[in-house]
Amino acid sequence: MAPTISPERTLRVAAVSGSLHSPSKTTTLVTELLNALARQRTIQVDLIELSETGPLFAGVLRRDQLSESAEQQLLAIEGADLLVVATPVYRASYTGLFKHFFDFVDQYALVDKPVLLAATGGSDRHALIIEHQLRPLFGFFQALTLPIGVYAKDSEFADYTICDDDLLERIERAISRGLPLLAQNSTPTHPSVW
Ligand SMILES: Cc1cc2nc3c(=O)[nH]c(=O)nc-3n(C[C@H](O)[C@H](O)[C@H](O)COP(=O)(O)O)c2cc1C
Repeated sequence: MAPTISPERTLRVAAVSGSLHSPSKTTTLVTELLNALARQRTIQVDLIELSETGPLFAGVLRRDQLSESAEQQLLAIEGADLLVVATPVYRASYTGLFKHFFDFVDQYALVDKPVLLAATGGSDRHALIIEHQLRPLFGFFQALTLPIGVYAKDSEFADYTICDDDLLERIERAISRGLPLLAQNSTPTHPSVW
């Protein structure tokens, strides 16, 4: 049975920023989501930035070929109570490296796991990346994607900080709408086996 997440218990959060750059607007967005979460719950965070750790995965084809530190990152994701996953839009999708990274995650390790989705892009034109690309990927994992994802465009950042009140409000709303669903996530897990 999946463990009940009581409001008192420290929440283990694994956060992934799929940006290939540092500094990064995507990482800023992830950090603000974590800050909003920390205002409501005690959290312990593993932040995985693909700009740093992507090369550990890039040339590897099988999980048993990964380094120990790469394996630890996958274990953090698989063992978390909540995932916060964000990617920049590249060529109308997530990057190949982002998909390659999640291809290493165990097929059944995310079943019923709450996942907060987020993305950044140059404009609003690809805002549906959350619904059309990220949600189906985590649907494959049978994860519990939270109802409100957060999309942010370049003009809502200045010097890699958020400069738009509406975006800050969307972040707060995504957290406040998502948190009650975490508390309810205590049902037995019966994965659909492929
Ligand atoms: C190679 C490349 C491709 C991109 N393709 C898109 C795109 O298709 N749609 C879009 O809205 N933005 C696109 N962008 C803009 C980035 O998604 C945007 O600047 C994002 O905020 C960068 O995030 P980062 O600062 O975390 O790296 C692209 C940027 C790069 C470098």
